[in-house]
Amino acid sequence: EAMRRAGRLAAETLDFITPHVKPGVTTGELDRLCHGFTEDRGAISAPLNYRGFPKSICTSVNHVVCHGIPDDAKKLKNGDIMNLDITVRTPDGYHGDSSVMFVVGNTIQGERLCRITQECLYKSIALVKPGVRLSELARVIQQHAEAHGYSVVRDFCGHGLGRLFHDAPNVLHFGEYGSGPVIEEGMFFTIEPMLNIGKPGVKILNDGWTAVTRDKTLSAQFEHSVGVTKDGVDIFTKSPAGLDQPPCG
Ligand code: MF3
Ligand code: CO
Ligand code: CO
Repeated sequence: EAMRRAGRLAAETLDFITPHVKPGVTTGELDRLCHGFTEDRGAISAPLNYRGFPKSICTSVNHVVCHGIPDDAKKLKNGDIMNLDITVRTPDGYHGDSSVMFVVGNTIQGERLCRITQECLYKSIALVKPGVRLSELARVIQQHAEAHGYSVVRDFCGHGLGRLFHDAPNVLHFGEYGSGPVIEEGMFFTIEPMLNIGKPGVKILNDGWTAVTRDKTLSAQFEHSVGVTKDGVDIFTKSPAGLDQPPCG
């Protein structure tokens, strides 16, 4: 129940910010709005000061893969795509972690990438139940991405969470199948595939956080926090407003 509450608050924060994401807004403004919303509900923005991260949310625009730092310099413009990643910690100490893509204005290339990335997330969630290997999630993500000509980022993965923001197990989105950890009832973890239009390689900018595609191609990511039930899965970060259903944006 505590994890459901944490997940719901992360999802509510994404619902809240959705109408504010439009051309002309800065990522710094989105950061302040999300921070205020979370704080007003008695919770904490988990990224703020996490290993030195300077802001409350991550905003990753276009060729930024993840961990983009909000700022007041650049405004969103028509044709941008942006991942907005929210992690909250509730007063009782549990984490909810979720991210979605926003398609700002029109971009057919960006929309397609976002749609396939979201499909990868939902196809993998559909497999979650006790007895299934985590690597089966990686298999379905990688197959769907590569079938559409996209690549899966190797350098970041999903993770267990609960009282800790990042905990075991690592939830990989690519790689070797048929071995590795088996899903058990009561596990909490995120699935958060990142897909690139070009090659999977990333590099970290000098700020120590911002991960970008080496070949400067667009990148997209969707993330949910889930809990494993007796015979299936509970999506903790499902949007109460229904905004996380395909198509995104
Ligand atoms: N929310 C990210 C994740 O999905 C982690 C962000 S860490 C930060 O795991 F420090 F960059 F905020
Ligand atoms: Co996460
Ligand atoms: Co996240």
